[in-house]
Amino acid sequence: MTYSIEYTKEIDRKSKENAYRLYDSGDIHRLEVGTVKGLQDIHRYLFQDLYDFAGEVRNLNVSKGKFRFANVLYLEAALNTVEKIPEPTFEQIIEKYVEMNIIHPFLEGNGHSTRIWLDLIFKKNLKKVVDWRKVDKKLYLQAMERSPVNDLELRFLLKNALTNQIDDRDIFLKGIDQSYYYEQAE
Ligand SMILES: Nc1ncnc2c1ncn2[C@@H]1O[C@H](COP(=O)(O)OP(=O)(O)O)[C@@H](O)[C@H]1O
Ligand SMILES: [Mg+2]
Repeated sequence: MTYSIEYTKEIDRKSKENAYRLYDSGDIHRLEVGTVKGLQDIHRYLFQDLYDFAGEVRNLNVSKGKFRFANVLYLEAALNTVEKIPEPTFEQIIEKYVEMNIIHPFLEGNGHSTRIWLDLIFKKNLKKVVDWRKVDKKLYLQAMERSPVNDLELRFLLKNALTNQIDDRDIFLKGIDQSYYYEQAE
């Protein structure tokens, strides 16, 4: 079964505004950290009124390039398992992020929403966040493609981009800009 979801400039612009508002309203502080519900709430916040599946786990199989993300038959079990991965170290947080990307719970918008989810986990457990401006687009996307097999490149990229400035509005908003830039076609 194939599907195609329109990702228009309008959706891009409005969902980016929603991401800014998530921070500026303070709603970001009300999110659960590291849970499936937390991720669903982020997705709903970004894509409410834009996608009818905002915040909803997909019921179709999806792939990118040659990679098939988790089969819908196993989605719920996989989500429950990944949610339980503990978050005490940088390495385990990366593992949790990589596994969540392999699940790819939503039809679209996994990249944008899961990067915010990851940052909240770093912030809570390591008192650090990613300065996404330091993470090159091409290298990041290559590292994500590689990550189901080996997460070495991803660990290297993100470790070098961590910052202690966890409550800096500029770092968050510029990070959102960078996150949206990653997903733009070139
Ligand atoms: N071949 C791949 N294998 C694994 N993960 C990938 C691959 N290609 C892209 N990704 C990851 O999927 C994300 C894009 O997922 P998608 O649901 O389209 O999110 P969005 O709609 O927010 O762009 C990328 O940011 C990257 O993290
Ligand atoms: Mg996409």
